[in-house]
Amino acid sequence: MCYGSAATEGGGWRMRILICGDVMGRAGRTAVTSAVPRLRRELGLDFVVVNGENAAGGFGITPEIAVELFAVGADVITGGNHIWEQKAILDYLPQNSRLLRALNYPPGTPGSSTAIWRTDSGASFGITYVLGRTFMAPLDDPFRALEDELEKPEWQGVRVRLIEVHAEATSEKQALAHCLDGRVSAVLGTHTHVQTADARILPGGTAYLTDAGMTGPHDSIIGVEKDLAIRRFRNQLPVRFAPARSDVWLNGAILEVDDRTGRALAIQTIQEPFRE
Ligand SMILES: [Fe+2]
Ligand SMILES: [Fe+2]
Repeated sequence: MCYGSAATEGGGWRMRILICGDVMGRAGRTAVTSAVPRLRRELGLDFVVVNGENAAGGFGITPEIAVELFAVGADVITGGNHIWEQKAILDYLPQNSRLLRALNYPPGTPGSSTAIWRTDSGASFGITYVLGRTFMAPLDDPFRALEDELEKPEWQGVRVRLIEVHAEATSEKQALAHCLDGRVSAVLGTHTHVQTADARILPGGTAYLTDAGMTGPHDSIIGVEKDLAIRRFRNQLPVRFAPARSDVWLNGAILEVDDRTGRALAIQTIQEPFRE
């Protein structure tokens, strides 16, 4: 942790965290490569979380791409419903504790779903994420999974707690956020690829955003070449999707948390155009 930012009124430090919304294909990876090192420097970021579920041509993530994202500044890579789509990731997930699969898969699913850091100075940061169940494939109850997870010994004393909710329904994301309000630092949504304008701090001190958006080509239909997506909607026949390439933006959120209390101090969305 570099703690490039200022002290808080209560004597803690402002921990500053960037979360990048779903990275879509090569265009999205290029945006991460160009923006994250610069943002890290300019904003004094302490942690960077990147959602990489669409990083490999829109479908999952490969070990090579995970290494690439770590190399340009991702501390943690989260995924989502698409994380399993590249075969090689099944062997890689259990070997890398900074690439996470969702918490609410059944017991025995390969890979880690939580990452926790503690420093000698006593600071700590933990992250985990769940998949929603509304308009998505059925999984274990994300509410219960999170409550059980946060009771585990490894989470005790971890003040800065970031929960990602990878879900389709706004209502399910809001329900999870209000359920955890005051118990975690932030509940941030991903998956829809469209950034929402509702970043706020809930009454109990938890920051909330329904969706961080997509890091990728915005001249598209949620990252896919427009013609292909339109054809599938019109004809209802199978169409092989390909990621779009133009109008590339990094979408995400910047979160500031008091590392002593774990309370969110600020949250704002970010939209960074790709620059050569
Ligand atoms: Fe996605
Ligand atoms: Fe997703």
